[in-house]
Amino acid sequence: MKRSLMLSVLVVSSVSLAASVADVKKKGVLVLGTDPTFAPFEFKGADGQIQGFDIDIARAVAKDLGVRLEVRAVGFGALMPQSVTSGRVDMAMSGITITPERAKVVAFSAPYYRSAQVFIVRSGNPGKFAWPADVKGKTIGVQANTTGQFTANDMLKPKGATLKVYDDFAAGLADVRAGRVAALIGDAPTVDDLKKRLPGQFDKAGADLAAEDYGMVFAKGSNLAAAANKTLARLRASGEYQALLNKWIVQK
Ligand code: ARG
Repeated sequence: MKRSLMLSVLVVSSVSLAASVADVKKKGVLVLGTDPTFAPFEFKGADGQIQGFDIDIARAVAKDLGVRLEVRAVGFGALMPQSVTSGRVDMAMSGITITPERAKVVAFSAPYYRSAQVFIVRSGNPGKFAWPADVKGKTIGVQANTTGQFTANDMLKPKGATLKVYDDFAAGLADVRAGRVAALIGDAPTVDDLKKRLPGQFDKAGADLAAEDYGMVFAKGSNLAAAANKTLARLRASGEYQALLNKWIVQK
């Protein structure tokens, strides 16, 4: 009896945490949580402002709702999914991959970007790293709580690779530079961006580990996801989506 009462209190409170379109309009602000260490999707510019492809999309969602966008920096580990499920932010965008496991706890928008997990090595691939040929006995870096880590657990560990887990992606890159890991797993568009910003330091090597889609993240049950899908459809139809791709993302 007591137990079921407690459970229903829990359920009620978690439902009420999902900000709705009406809640957001009432407060006049859409709060976006993002981990701004993921150029070109979200990163701090020279002026300290958080900017990028995801931020512009979120700003369009806020504009269509008639509210302003507030951007809050949250580490990826806390962002997904706690910051959303706890209601600390109304939505999260951070190059977040849509997965069936995550979809059990949060609501995703329609996919807004097709991405892939790739291997990053030192420029010129001095260790001749190759996937799927040779991961046995190799140490491979992954970022904690990312799909890179989940996929590496499923696909690389069984083949005899050792995983080194980083909270901070930059620490993984430093280890690639120093040769402390054979390769680091990262998201393809961020690696292309790195190669452009830091020419001659990093390369991709081997086949892609996995293809993925990014989605905007909301609390389960929130009608904000449907509102975001409308904005996405509008941006696609008007050509603004393509303009944002051209503005931010290295085109191949
Ligand atoms: N796409 C990967 C995932 O969803 C990595 C995202 C990391 N994003 C970031 N802002 N650090 O797990």
